[in-house]
Amino acid sequence: MIGGIRHSTFGVRVMVASIAAVLASCRTAPNASEEAARWTLRAVEVDTAPHAMIASNDSLATMAGIEVLRRGGNAVDAAVAVGFALAVTYPEAGNIGGGGFMLVRLADGRTAALDFREVAPLGATRDMYLDSTGAPTKASVTGHLAVGVPGTVAGLTAALERYGSKSLAEVMAPAIRLARDGLVVDSALARSVAGDAARIARFEGGARFVPGGVPLPRGARFAQPELAWTLAQIAERGAAGFYRGTVADSLVAEMRRGGGLITHADLERYAPVWREPLRGTYRGYTLLTMPPISSGGVALLETLNILEAMGPLPSFRSVAETHRLTEALRRAFLDRNSELGDPAFMTNPVERLTSKAYAQSLASRISPTQATPTLTLASTPREGTQTTHFSVADSAGNVVAVTYTLNELYGSGVWVRGAGFFLNDEMDDFTAAPGKPNLFGLVQGEANAIAPGKRMLSSMTPAIVLDSAGAPWLVLGSRGGPRIITSVIEVVSNVIDHRMSLAEAMAAPRVHHQALPDSLRYEAGGLAPAVVDSLRAMGHAIGVAPWKPGGYVGRVHAIMKTPAGWVGVVDPRTSGEAEGY
Ligand code: DON
Repeated sequence: MIGGIRHSTFGVRVMVASIAAVLASCRTAPNASEEAARWTLRAVEVDTAPHAMIASNDSLATMAGIEVLRRGGNAVDAAVAVGFALAVTYPEAGNIGGGGFMLVRLADGRTAALDFREVAPLGATRDMYLDSTGAPTKASVTGHLAVGVPGTVAGLTAALERYGSKSLAEVMAPAIRLARDGLVVDSALARSVAGDAARIARFEGGARFVPGGVPLPRGARFAQPELAWTLAQIAERGAAGFYRGTVADSLVAEMRRGGGLITHADLERYAPVWREPLRGTYRGYTLLTMPPISSGGVALLETLNILEAMGPLPSFRSVAETHRLTEALRRAFLDRNSELGDPAFMTNPVERLTSKAYAQSLASRISPTQATPTLTLASTPREGTQTTHFSVADSAGNVVAVTYTLNELYGSGVWVRGAGFFLNDEMDDFTAAPGKPNLFGLVQGEANAIAPGKRMLSSMTPAIVLDSAGAPWLVLGSRGGPRIITSVIEVVSNVIDHRMSLAEAMAAPRVHHQALPDSLRYEAGGLAPAVVDSLRAMGHAIGVAPWKPGGYVGRVHAIMKTPAGWVGVVDPRTSGEAEGY
């Protein structure tokens, strides 16, 4: 039942141990004491249940999904309920003003991948974020020009229409109730709003989230009447309630007020795309994941294929294991950054990049003793926070993985006056200028250049792992920009290669490499000092991951089938709840 009280990271259900090591990385430059820090992050309490399980970034949203399941809804019904509820309870990333991806695997074996990624407005131009000297501006990150045409409402409603069993009004009821009646602000929401108060207050959302200049305090009851109204429009009229009519009018008026590009024509032509999930294998397990326009699936499979080609993995966070992972990531990210783009605009070399033969040829050129500088890998010069993931399993054997986002925390900061929701800053995921880093430091190429109506490349990696008998075993995904890819790879590798429980796999220290910048980052305390020294001696530019809003490593929400039933785990680095029955 939804009581309107969000549980925070340190709330009732979560028995997290210390995050001292993570907090120790709040500074950007590594120093001796950080490198000597001990890894103290421990697995959170896991929820285990015989029939069904949901793990999401917010307890009220998880309970919205459980409510729908208990009323006889299936995993897709529940996922749609969670998606709309997060737009109310987790406004930093849950959204109706952003976009994302849904992966479905039904009990009868059918699979589907739904792309509801934002698209560039028709008025977008290739160089729209360059100043007169050719340097990228901040307009792709904050403000009206940063906004891509939102896809979430079209995506969630399309998923429900194809695979759901309940009406939109039924699955949206918890979200509408939470927006209308309000929720009690918990410490996680209060911290999040306070952290972005200045940015939020620059736009129309300031009146709701930072009233009178004071960020929403913990314990306050927080209602969102404009959002409740907008959600009711959608519940009544489906996607048309968002893309046409009064909500669309408000969105377009908001764009006009701030010099944004989205018009009624952009909203009316938006359509989600059903795609074939990417399928690969790793050491006897089958992986289903997202094809382009997410790069996540390709990079996940390419990296795992390279690791597999190098044989059994050495022990966790040894020099050899960390080196192999880094070198595999470097190669997969180099391809990800330069070769992928919107399939409506180009042909992606997905088959080649995800083939075992290609991985074998890359693996054979990895030195066991030396790092390969990224720039030496390119045969021709290469040009070149906030997301949330939830995983759902129902009692009939259907599973769903959804990652969706506004990009940065609270997206572009722009909030639609009268309609009550934040808009994304997804345009920053395009290549603003080949060879120049974006918000996440990704150095991308021509394939991902801006064009009207084009989808921007994503790193979101919803994934479903099937066991050797072909049954759903692990459902996961993450937030964290490019760190999504690494975090998903590491959790998969931790449970398969290192035989960790899901809770251990999620709490284990992570590393990250994304080809450029050519630097291997690790969570403070996550590598033994002697391992750091050895990796440095092999030529790795290595340092402690800087702590940033959005997190330098990902935040995973995963569920796993065990003999005891479904186990759900929330990343101990973030808030949320896993609940089942
Ligand atoms: O689609 C992407 O790859 C990014 N927009 C995701 C952003 C993200 O994960 C931010 N969260 N921390």
